[in-house]
Amino acid sequence: MKILNIETSCDDTGISILEAKDGIKNASFKVLANNVSSQIDVHIPYGGVYPALAKREHTKNLPFVLEKTLKESKLEKKEKPVDAITVTYGPGLEITLWTGIVFAQELSKKWNVPVIPVNHMEGHLFSVFGKGKGKFKIPAIKTPILSLLVSGGHTELILMKKWMQYERIGQTVDDAVGEAFDKVARILGLPYPGGPQISKFADTQREKKEINSPFSLPRPMLYTKNFDFSYSGLKTAVLYLVRDLGGLKKINEKTKAQIALEFENAAIECLIYKTKKAIEKYKIKTLIVAGGVSANNHLKKEMQKISKGKVKLFFPPKELTGDNSLMIGIAGYLNYIKNKKKTPKPNSIKATGNLRL
Ligand code: KG4
Ligand code: ZN
Repeated sequence: MKILNIETSCDDTGISILEAKDGIKNASFKVLANNVSSQIDVHIPYGGVYPALAKREHTKNLPFVLEKTLKESKLEKKEKPVDAITVTYGPGLEITLWTGIVFAQELSKKWNVPVIPVNHMEGHLFSVFGKGKGKFKIPAIKTPILSLLVSGGHTELILMKKWMQYERIGQTVDDAVGEAFDKVARILGLPYPGGPQISKFADTQREKKEINSPFSLPRPMLYTKNFDFSYSGLKTAVLYLVRDLGGLKKINEKTKAQIALEFENAAIECLIYKTKKAIEKYKIKTLIVAGGVSANNHLKKEMQKISKGKVKLFFPPKELTGDNSLMIGIAGYLNYIKNKKKTPKPNSIKATGNLRL
């Protein structure tokens, strides 16, 4: 079956079309088109996502991205181009989620096809099996599976004792790790989104073998007995450090890079430590790391170290680390099959900002 997928949970307008077949354990997919229209340039002056502007941009972009996607899939002339629509209904910014949902509802009426509501985080989780183009399959996977989901809004450890049955065993008690990267970048005078900027600075230091930062930042909640995280204190520690150094105007590029390196080391160390502990406790066979922060090179290297010879490790391909609709299509199709093709009435789907897995 052909499915059209829509993602508008934050500042990326994503539409894709997938051809999907087979069951929830051996599903296979073919990408007919995959488009993401980023709004980063619009939000840069605000140093973060400005929700009302994001809504306006989605509303403006959706029809164009749809047209492009249908054309690339050679389906633009078909009366009923796809068999179903998947759409993100949460978590995310409700005001932007609604733009995608309403768009999906309208198309569903026009084409007389069902709408499959999808949890954005479940999408990230399944992004590890996807590819930006071509064909891909859900591989045979051993349980128990542990997923570390790290994005601008989430930091959570999800246990899957059985395929597609989720249990949250740990989460951030305050800021998400991606949010901390963005806030620290802002403190250091770097543009939004901060994650890639910080990680570029830190990687450059490592390439130059300047791995000993003169600064030392805390690793909050590292030794607590649970699997929770905390990032607000780490961000505040950077704020105080910059203040104690005389403020942003007094620090040069080298000092910025040294702070970025120490911040990244601290942030990632907490993720690695808790993930390792959970792998041991739950005798994990498969580890999935996904969400925007999974684009981080240092995180990937450190995860490779702890999983080597012990667990099978999955990261998304670089093009699917950030928000995209292709991952929504994968999760949506798997849920559609799991729920024996039952879908809610399209008009009953509601944006749910704080939706949990
Ligand atoms: O999943 P995502 O695209 O959007 C949300 O659902 O939040 O995640 C975005 C987050 C941002 O906080 C961004 O700074 C972070 O992912 N990010 C990174 C990197 N690339 C993106 N964080 C650390 N290192 C990176 N290379
Ligand atoms: Zn996301």
